Amino acid sequence: MSFNINYIPYAGIVLCSLVACNTLKNSGPGGGAYIEKHRSQFHFSPAEKWMNDPNGLVYYEGEYHLFYQYYPDSTVWGPMHWGHAVSRNLVQWQHLPVALYPDQLGMIFSGSAVVDWNNTSGFGKDGRPPLVAIYTQHLMAGEKAGRHDFQYQSIAYSTDKGRTWTKYAGNPVIPNPGIHDFRDPKVMWDKESKQWVMVFAAGNHVKLWGSPDLKHWTHLSDFGREWGSHGGVWECPDLFPVRVDGTGETRWVLLLSINPGAPNGGSGTQYFVGQFDGKNFVPDPGFSQAVSGEKAVWLDYGRDNYAGVTWSDVPASDGRRLFLGWMSNWDYAQVVPTATWRSAMTLPRSLQLKNTNEGFRLFSEPVRELQNLRERGVTIPAAAIDDGLDLSTVTGFRSVTKELVLEFEWNAADPVAEFGVELYNGKGEKVALGYDPAKQQLFVDRTQSGPGGFSPKFLSRDVAPYVTSNQRLHLHLLIDAASVEMFADNGARVMTDIFFPTEDFTGLRVYGKGVRVASGKAWELKKAW
Ligand code: FRU
Repeated sequence: MSFNINYIPYAGIVLCSLVACNTLKNSGPGGGAYIEKHRSQFHFSPAEKWMNDPNGLVYYEGEYHLFYQYYPDSTVWGPMHWGHAVSRNLVQWQHLPVALYPDQLGMIFSGSAVVDWNNTSGFGKDGRPPLVAIYTQHLMAGEKAGRHDFQYQSIAYSTDKGRTWTKYAGNPVIPNPGIHDFRDPKVMWDKESKQWVMVFAAGNHVKLWGSPDLKHWTHLSDFGREWGSHGGVWECPDLFPVRVDGTGETRWVLLLSINPGAPNGGSGTQYFVGQFDGKNFVPDPGFSQAVSGEKAVWLDYGRDNYAGVTWSDVPASDGRRLFLGWMSNWDYAQVVPTATWRSAMTLPRSLQLKNTNEGFRLFSEPVRELQNLRERGVTIPAAAIDDGLDLSTVTGFRSVTKELVLEFEWNAADPVAEFGVELYNGKGEKVALGYDPAKQQLFVDRTQSGPGGFSPKFLSRDVAPYVTSNQRLHLHLLIDAASVEMFADNGARVMTDIFFPTEDFTGLRVYGKGVRVASGKAWELKKAW
C-alpha cells in the first residue's frame, strides 16, 4: 500500500502511543466470546481494531510468537504498532499486550524477529539469548514533508520471552539513503556464511544486507529489478533455505509480496527459487525457465493471502518451514463489514519445495496441528454427482466451521462442466469453488457471496491455472465463518478467499455433471477461541 494521509484517519495521534494506549483486551481462548458476525472461529484475529501483516514470527521456548501490524485506536489502518500473541500449538492463541509502540523515529512497520542464540548482539542476559526484533520505522513527518528517506530499519530486544521490549539506543541500524520505499526487513542466520542476512524491499527490488551482530550492517547485493511481477510495489520479502522434497539438495526460496499486481487483483505473493552464496541470490536455471513463460509464480492464487512470511527458529527436530499470511487484500481490507475488528490471518501452513514438471514449486498445506480441531468425521460415499449431492444431508453438519477432503474423478472422453463445492445459506447466497476442466482452471467464485456494496472490487471470481493429471483432483477445504482455503492436490495450488454472507454458510453441496466423487471425508471443526 502507499501510506498517504488518506490511510491515516487519526494522523495527529501517533504520539498517543508513547503513553499508555493499549486498548487490547486479553480475550484469549476461553476468555472472550469471539462469536460476532463474521468472526473467524479457528483463524487468528485481533480481539478488536485494525490488523494487517504478520510480523516477528519466531519460535522460542515452546511458544510460537505472532506479532502483527496493529492500530489499537481504530478499525482502519493508522499509526502502526506491533500487536502480539503466542501459541503453543499454532491453533489456539493467547493475546498479549502490544509489544512495540511508535516513537520519535516513527511508526513500527513490518519486520521479523530472531533468537540470537550466540548473543552476537550482546543483548542477552544471565546466559540466556535475547529475542531481537528487526523492523521498519516510518516517519510520517518525513513523508509529509516530501522527503524520500522516511523509512529505515531499527531493532529492539527482549530478555523475557518477548513480553517486554527495549529499543536499541543506536537506531536506526540501516538509515535510508533516499529510497522512497525501504522496508520490511526479514532476518535469518546463515550458517554457511556465518552472518545474519537481512532481506528487505526497496520499491522494485529487494536488498540483501549482512551483519555479524544485528547492529552493524553492510550491503551485500540487490535482486529483482528484472525478475518476476512488477505490477506494484514490492513488500515483505522472506529468504530461507529449504530441502528439495525427497532429495538431499537445498534451494533458497525468496517470497515477495506485491501490491497491486496479484493474478486476481490487488495484493499477492510471488516467489523465486534459487541459490544464495552469502552475497547474491540467483534464481535456479530450471526455475528461471519456468518463470519466463508466466512472468511470476504465485504462492496462493486467491485474493486473500498477503504479506506472508515464515517462522524463524522452528527447531530442526520439527524441520518444517511454517508460513502465515494476512488473510485480506489492500483492495478492500479497510472496508470489509466487520464491526469491531478488521482482518484475520490465514491458517498456518507448512511449505515444501518440490521439483515438479513445471520446475521447482512450493506446496502449501495446513499444519497438522489443526487436525486437533476435528470433531465429527463423516465418510462421504463414492457417488456420481449428477444433479448435485447435498453434503449437509449426508453429514448432518450444522456447524459453519468444516473441513472437507474430496477426491473427484471424470473420464477424458466425457464432456465435463465445472465442478466443485458450494457453500450456501438460506438467503440464496453462496460461494462456489472447484475446477473447470475445459479451462484448466481452479476457481473460487464469491460473486454471490453476500452484499458486496462495501467495495466494487470484492465480489470476484478468482481463478488459478492448473493442469490435472489423469482426470483426478484432490481438494482439501478449510471453511471458517468468513473464509475458505482450498488446497488442491496436496497443496500444489492454493486459493484463499474471504466472504461476508448475510447468514452463515451452513449448507454444503457438491456439484458437477459427469464427475464422480471417488472418496471423501468431512469433519466439523471445533472453535479455537
Ligand atoms: C504490507 C505493508 C508493509 C508495511 C506495512 C505497513 O501490507 O504495506 O510494506 O510495512 O504494510 O502497515
